[in-house]
Amino acid sequence: MRTRFNAKAIEQLNEFDRYIKETEKIQEIISKNKDKKIYLEIGMGKGDFITQLSMLDKDNIYIGVELSPPVLALAMKKLVRFEEENNIRLDNLYFMSFDAINIASIFKEGQIEKIYLNFSDPWPKKKHAKRRLTNEKFLAEYKKVLRENGQIEFKTDNRELFEYSLVSMQNYGLKFIEVYLDLHKTDVFNIQTEYEKKFSPFGPIYKIIVEY
Ligand SMILES: C[S@@+](CC[C@H](N)C(=O)[O-])C[C@H]1O[C@@H](n2cnc3c(N)ncnc32)[C@H](O)[C@@H]1O
Repeated sequence: MRTRFNAKAIEQLNEFDRYIKETEKIQEIISKNKDKKIYLEIGMGKGDFITQLSMLDKDNIYIGVELSPPVLALAMKKLVRFEEENNIRLDNLYFMSFDAINIASIFKEGQIEKIYLNFSDPWPKKKHAKRRLTNEKFLAEYKKVLRENGQIEFKTDNRELFEYSLVSMQNYGLKFIEVYLDLHKTDVFNIQTEYEKKFSPFGPIYKIIVEY
């Protein structure tokens, strides 16, 4: 997702009360909410998915992670507008910006209930396979922070990334809980992401749920 650098947007993001920059701060939030589960979406883009999910489950904590601060700034604007229009405040939703490969330096062992990966960048060239968020290196980092038997829910419209992820997850030894070859033709509960809305008219959406 390419976004023009917008200094004002970044400034606004830095001032946003639910944008968490420091590891200490997110740890403080987690320790104040010991009775709650922590859900992460990695590569949240503009954030429709995690916003909707956090609204449906106000009793738990949702953290949207996005590598790109300019993209996160757009997500923040969208959230602020959504909250104003609906006269609500999603106190259980936080945004963070970091590379998913560093997840274990932010969260502690067993802190995370589930990780959502939606329409992750496919990185089609073989030489870039290590950057795919379902690469075994990433799966190993997720394991460090997920609770025992924690899950990953992964959706994509990209057949090559789907096949790659099946093999990568299988090789890592994850247990397949659910696999869908055409999610929108099922009646499974689904919150559509921005990419999903844009690309589902052109082909099936694949979904995998795996457990560690
Ligand atoms: C194709 S977009 C999908 C956005 C959103 N999930 C959706 O479905 O509409 C993938 C997003 O993942 C982010 N991303 C890519 N690599 C990442 C990484 N290593 N850590 C965190 N976010 C990453 C990108 O910046 C981009 O915004």
